[in-house]
Amino acid sequence: MNAEPELHILFTKKEIKATVGRLAAEISRDYRGKNPLLIGILKGSFLFLADLIRHLDFPLEVDFIRLSSYGKGKETLGKVKVVQGIKSSIQGREVLIIEDIVDTGLTTAFLIDYLRKKKPASLKLCTLTDKPSRRQVPVTIDYLGLTAPNKFLVGYGLDCDEKFRNLPEVYYLEEN
Ligand code: IMP
Repeated sequence: MNAEPELHILFTKKEIKATVGRLAAEISRDYRGKNPLLIGILKGSFLFLADLIRHLDFPLEVDFIRLSSYGKGKETLGKVKVVQGIKSSIQGREVLIIEDIVDTGLTTAFLIDYLRKKKPASLKLCTLTDKPSRRQVPVTIDYLGLTAPNKFLVGYGLDCDEKFRNLPEVYYLEEN
């Protein structure tokens, strides 16, 4: 049987807004005047990145990378691949990865390794949400938004089979 999953609110619009503002203040403090390159991981980070950069009132650049780690549904495939690479040269740049969620850590660990080989001046990670209880490989998060329980999250860019990205809040799914 495949009953519709129930959505339960986890992070409200107000909490997300406050978190984005706090992260933007931390990033501004560290990157103002450094013309950083922000790399959003597609697709989940697009809303977060769009809201975040509206608070950053100094020169910066944006690029995107698309990685595949999950198959259909909620289980990771464990293997990460670059599906769409970045166009910008990152050698000698101050690079900040913008992620929606760190779960097992496999995706971000892969990306950090992949980008480090391209010799940026610095490489840091900002994530809106984190599920530390699911970690399989260690990941250093430099700018952390909200810590989440071990639940599958949707909304504010996060999807389940491409659905729910448009919700302005973050919910967790509960199967019936
Ligand atoms: P990781 O490699 O397991 O850390 O997973 C990272 C990627 O898996 C994220 O960029 C998301 O695209 C996806 N992901 C992990 N957990 C969730 C979740 O709870 N909801 C939606 N997507 C998730």
